[in-house]
Amino acid sequence: MKEPKPIVEIAATGRWLPERVVTNADLEKELDTSDAWIRERTGIRERRIAGPEVGAADMGARAARIAMKRAGVHAGEIDFIIVATATPDRLLPSTACDIQAMLGATNAAAYDISAACSGFLFAMEIAEGHIAAGRGDLALVISTEKMTGIVDWTDRSTAVLFGDGAGAALVRRSSNGRGVMSSYIRSDGTLAELLWRPAGGVRIPMDAGVLERRDHLVKMAGREVFKHAVKAMADAADQALVRAGLTGDDIDLFIPHQANMRIIEATAKFAKIPMSKVYINVDRYGNMSSATIPVALDEALEQGRIGPGDNVLMVAFGAGFTWASSVVRW
Ligand SMILES: CC(C)(COP(=O)(O)OP(=O)(O)OC[C@H]1O[C@@H](n2cnc3c(N)ncnc32)[C@H](O)[C@@H]1OP(=O)(O)O)[C@@H](O)C(=O)NCCC(=O)NCCS
Repeated sequence: MKEPKPIVEIAATGRWLPERVVTNADLEKELDTSDAWIRERTGIRERRIAGPEVGAADMGARAARIAMKRAGVHAGEIDFIIVATATPDRLLPSTACDIQAMLGATNAAAYDISAACSGFLFAMEIAEGHIAAGRGDLALVISTEKMTGIVDWTDRSTAVLFGDGAGAALVRRSSNGRGVMSSYIRSDGTLAELLWRPAGGVRIPMDAGVLERRDHLVKMAGREVFKHAVKAMADAADQALVRAGLTGDDIDLFIPHQANMRIIEATAKFAKIPMSKVYINVDRYGNMSSATIPVALDEALEQGRIGPGDNVLMVAFGAGFTWASSVVRW
């Protein structure tokens, strides 16, 4: 198969994580759980938690400023701000508009997208579409998640899994044959109820009953989600590789969505990528929904784990269900 020609590349990345670290031992004091259970079932050791003074827009703007500084980009040059978040600061207007105001990116169109943990890769594909269509040259793709704000702290089966953080990527037209080689986005809305917040929108508005039932918080059928995640991430890995005309052997670094170590291992095995080429930070941050991939990408770049010419495979899965993948050549 002929190699695709990239339309866009990632000019720079940035991340922001709250300072406060909450370990499994800390959670043992609040919940009927144990460090051993959490580590064995998920691989998570600790997570970051943002304080009440920090919102999704604050975190996203901080990650974005770092990416902009690294790329030498001024706020006025940005054409699109696309924010993937499952935890907007409020429902109207968008978190993206708040970030636009914080950055002073007055020439941009800013909006949020909702694709849960797959949001970063969905937003990347949207940014590519805008630039391919010639509607602009520079997009800021941000994933910002304050998951601890929507977690039910009385439910041990979900509370131990999530953390807060933000990652950003500046996407521009590819100039050197490097960049996004392939991307793939999919969803299956028939399975929404396996991972959701049942109430708090317009269908079942917030009231005393909702609060009492805690239906405005995350509910998850963990075992079912696990099975679908493994299957969908395998499909996504395969699609991104085929569309890029590559195999697992060609991948220099694999960055999977960081929800659970066992899901990561199963996906790497399916894609025939050795664990030495898999970037892992779920142990330090837990599941930060759509922010896991851009935060991991930013760390991997900083650590020199990605060099010029390297092929990076990214694969995500989340509520919806949604799943997505991409191969980017550096
Ligand atoms: C959530 C998850 C870690 C649970 O692991 P699991 O092996 O499926 O465990 P189960 O949910 O079947 O629960 C097994 C037992 O552990 C218990 N348990 C659940 N959470 C616990 C916790 N934090 N501490 C201790 N015990 C716990 C359950 O009550 C259950 O007990 P029982 O057998 O007495 O009923 C796992 O299902 C998972 O990772 N799912 C996918 C989650 C995910 O990736 N979501 C995000 C997608 S973006």
